[in-house]
Amino acid sequence: MSLTLPQPPRETLTGKSLIAGVFGWPVTHSRSPRLHGYWLKHYGIDGAYIPFSTHPAQFETALRALPALGFRGANVTLPHKEKALACIDQATERARRIGAVNTVMVQEDGTLLGDNTDGFGFLEHLQASAANWRAGDGPAVVLGAGGASRAIVVALLDAGVPEIRLVNRTTRRAEEIAEALNTAADRRITVHDWDHRAAILDGGALLVNTTQLGLAGQPALEIDLAQLPVSAVVDDIVYVPMETSLLAAARKRGNAVVDGLGMLLHQARPGFAAWFKVEPDVTPALRDFVLADIPGAK
Ligand code: ATR
Repeated sequence: MSLTLPQPPRETLTGKSLIAGVFGWPVTHSRSPRLHGYWLKHYGIDGAYIPFSTHPAQFETALRALPALGFRGANVTLPHKEKALACIDQATERARRIGAVNTVMVQEDGTLLGDNTDGFGFLEHLQASAANWRAGDGPAVVLGAGGASRAIVVALLDAGVPEIRLVNRTTRRAEEIAEALNTAADRRITVHDWDHRAAILDGGALLVNTTQLGLAGQPALEIDLAQLPVSAVVDDIVYVPMETSLLAAARKRGNAVVDGLGMLLHQARPGFAAWFKVEPDVTPALRDFVLADIPGAK
């Protein structure tokens, strides 16, 4: 006679629960607990994903405590992403090139491996949303030179884009990215003046806005799209609102458009897979669930 132990309801943690979380300051704006929480429930996983409100002065101590606490790992969000690169034992090549870490895995031996999945998330969403886009199609124009821009530039270089025209209000920041990522043999990143942003759209196959322009509460992104081929894809990483004025203008003239929410959803996949041992899917239901908690995104 076999004895069947009563199973706890799925919402209950057990001694075997797999635990991960996200470090931020503030962490209240993070969408990650809701996103990972959805997947945990959807796949019926015995695990939890916890928001850690961690002051910058405590960040290193908190991160280094993950192995001692038996945690599987964590995401890292603002303002800790650059600091995290200096606090881990080993970094993936892309994290080093991006200069920041957003995903940390506790390895078997208790050391910390840091990765950066932001560029991966960007590219996966671009490929899923604009199925006809190919990296080799032509130059990419990237507006902005912050952390998100750097992750996207690395992803586009690795995907094989023939040229990246980088343009930022503060030209020096764009030059720093170009100096860090161009090599003697590979000088695909070219830097341009902010005032020339409309002219450098000529012949472009992809336009990406990584600035905060167009975000609710920020000034609009002013750019004349006349020079951009109608065959080009226009991608805005801003997702509040979901259809920015850039995307609306691009759509109106016939360009394929890609919104910003998918980058957030796809960047979460590698961490979830490593911590919880299930490859999660980005689905319309997940998207709606995350969207429901983002005021002004619709
Ligand atoms: P993130 O790390 O999220 O990419 P960030 O480092 O704060 O954010 O970068 C924000 C980007 O938006 C930068 O490219 C910034 O330009 P500067 O480097 O010149 O600051 C850009 N940005 C923000 N406000 C802007 C504005 N009013 N006009 C033009 N660019 C702006």
